Amino acid sequence: MATPTPADKFTFGLWTIGYNGNDPFGGPTRPHLDVVEAVDHLAELGAWGLTFHDDDLFAFGSTDAERQAQIDRLKQALADTGLTVPMITTNLFSQPVFKDGGFTSNDRSVRRFALRKVLRNLDLAAELGATTFVMWGGREGAEYDAAKDIRAALERYREAVNLLGDYVTDKGYDIRFAIEPKPNEPRGDILLPTVGHALAFIQSLERPELVGLNPEVGHEQMAGLNFAAGIAQALYHGKLFHIDLNGQRGIKYDQDLVFAHGDLYNAFALVDLLENGAPGGGRAYDGPRHFDYKPSRTEDMTGVWDSAAANMRNYLLLKERAAAFRADPEVQAALAAAKVPELSVPTLAEGETYTDLLADRAAFEDFDAGSYFGAKGFGFVRLQQLATEHLLGAR
Ligand code: GCO
Ligand code: MN
Ligand code: MN
Ligand code: MN
Repeated sequence: MATPTPADKFTFGLWTIGYNGNDPFGGPTRPHLDVVEAVDHLAELGAWGLTFHDDDLFAFGSTDAERQAQIDRLKQALADTGLTVPMITTNLFSQPVFKDGGFTSNDRSVRRFALRKVLRNLDLAAELGATTFVMWGGREGAEYDAAKDIRAALERYREAVNLLGDYVTDKGYDIRFAIEPKPNEPRGDILLPTVGHALAFIQSLERPELVGLNPEVGHEQMAGLNFAAGIAQALYHGKLFHIDLNGQRGIKYDQDLVFAHGDLYNAFALVDLLENGAPGGGRAYDGPRHFDYKPSRTEDMTGVWDSAAANMRNYLLLKERAAAFRADPEVQAALAAAKVPELSVPTLAEGETYTDLLADRAAFEDFDAGSYFGAKGFGFVRLQQLATEHLLGAR
């Protein structure tokens, strides 16, 4: 129980366990982590996969030979452990050349370079069998309103994603794109700041079916939004292609805490949704459970691996708690009393038209809206207390 296995599909970014503690106020507190050691440790802990940015695996500016040597070392480690690479991504934010963005830099030469960097990385994704390509546009944004023509920037973003869609289609690659929204940091304001913004953008693309979302817990919470509710809408639109799990405590800088070390209620609601939230029950999302967190810079390497294990254990513990919540007859009764299932009943009967509705006196003329509920409430608070008791292990 609560022991991870590859069947749980837990994956980690190389930049997460590899985070050396560097922040805007201080330098590294930990040594560099080699990719082979990362793969070995993750496999031992029961993870399923590793993800990375190009620059995590081979330093920016590497020669072709240096790049290939690192790819070969990774491939050997994967073969030795059985770990997979289900997703990769491109770093368009660390190097000075990307200081005003990649796809949406005001400078056209930078945009062309960014596209070439991504195209090269798409070939690597295909080579490694990664089927999801994440796009986090951390530098795609601005600090000053007059400095960025937002509509032009969105048009260039669209041009870039359309081109990438053409490329994977022409190459026959089995790859879909997942856009990762974030409201701010490192830019003052980032383009496609939330799940909702990104969903609207995707609909403007030439191949919307190739593009979905990689929402991150902390990023929506930095905008004060309910992450589980955002994921429900992403699922509703068929756009949950990938997910970044971590923890965040309120509207502040991007904390990237261990999953469930932030808003525990929302983590519970999220796991319940992913595991039990399909229409009619069952798994609503089958993709990787990807952790994008940062082991706090106070920790040593033992603390890094403890925190990696904690992410997976917390997910599995919440999965157990959510299963118990759903199986509890009192919860089922409280859900029914709160009319939660009734929301799935269409408001008009089959075949009923607005003419029929207008003719239905019970719906309006004879409907006593003023005293309809009388003194009776929905019992949502009782439902939340039952959730709390399951979460606290009291039931
Ligand atoms: C962040 C982002 C990144 C992305 C990563 C993959 O806030 O720094 O979450 O960690 O997830 O670049 O695209
Ligand atoms: Mn984050
Ligand atoms: Mn982050
Ligand atoms: Mn992320």
